Amino acid sequence: MDNRPIGVFDSGFGGLTVARALIDLLPDEDLVYLGDTGRYPYGSRPLSQVKNFANQITQWLIDNHNVKMVVVACNTASAAALDDLQSKFELPIIGVIDPGIRATKRATRNKKVGVIGTVGTISSQAYQKAVLDQRLGMDLVACPCPGLVEFVERGETSGQDIYDLVEKLLLPIKQGGVDTLLLGCTHYPFLARVISDVVGRDVVLVSSADETAFEVRSILDETGLNTHSNKEAKVKFFSSGDPQWFAKLGSQLLGLEIADVGTVEWGSQY
Ligand code: DGL
Repeated sequence: MDNRPIGVFDSGFGGLTVARALIDLLPDEDLVYLGDTGRYPYGSRPLSQVKNFANQITQWLIDNHNVKMVVVACNTASAAALDDLQSKFELPIIGVIDPGIRATKRATRNKKVGVIGTVGTISSQAYQKAVLDQRLGMDLVACPCPGLVEFVERGETSGQDIYDLVEKLLLPIKQGGVDTLLLGCTHYPFLARVISDVVGRDVVLVSSADETAFEVRSILDETGLNTHSNKEAKVKFFSSGDPQWFAKLGSQLLGLEIADVGTVEWGSQY
């Protein structure tokens, strides 16, 4: 039994989709969420740089919040850094790529699936490799979607501009005959309505959030790291960008009031 918090991070607001699933599934666990909004987007940066950010954030979560586990709630950072983090740090660390693949495998009937993500995630080939390595026998259409994360970070989740961009970017998905589309960026569930309008209602949209929360629960159960506290769980939020904007848009996207946001300053190390 361990009352320390679980650390969760993303480049910005996207990881709130995972945080929400954790709050719903594990309401007794304390969380510390860091949105690296001062350095978003990650998806257009070199993966080596994202790897450095992920290492720095993991160390920060350990040093400042004594976290018992870390959830990399960002596909780009999972693709760039998960193996490295798992080999360097002693605590359990999970990403969102394998959970997303598992949920996709369960959802598809015709074994033709799509995945959309940032340029960094798709060009890392992380999803393509996972499908091959795990011999899932699925045809995968992988499609980078530059520009979508920026809409979410600005608080825009619907409208003609987003529709037009999604329609243009998802053409290969529409032409691929897929029955399932994995939202391979934690920001994209906030755009699910538009994405579904574009690909059609018969394509199942899959997010990694719930499956990631289930994996966290299994790890806590297996390692005995679950909390045994009777007090109300605390969720603390931090941003490396504008804390007021984080509180405002974050409350809206999370569907819970974020009253207080701490700030983090990284300096110019990377
Ligand atoms: N939410 C992050 C992901 O899942 C992406 C964001 C970014 O480009 O900053 O990949």
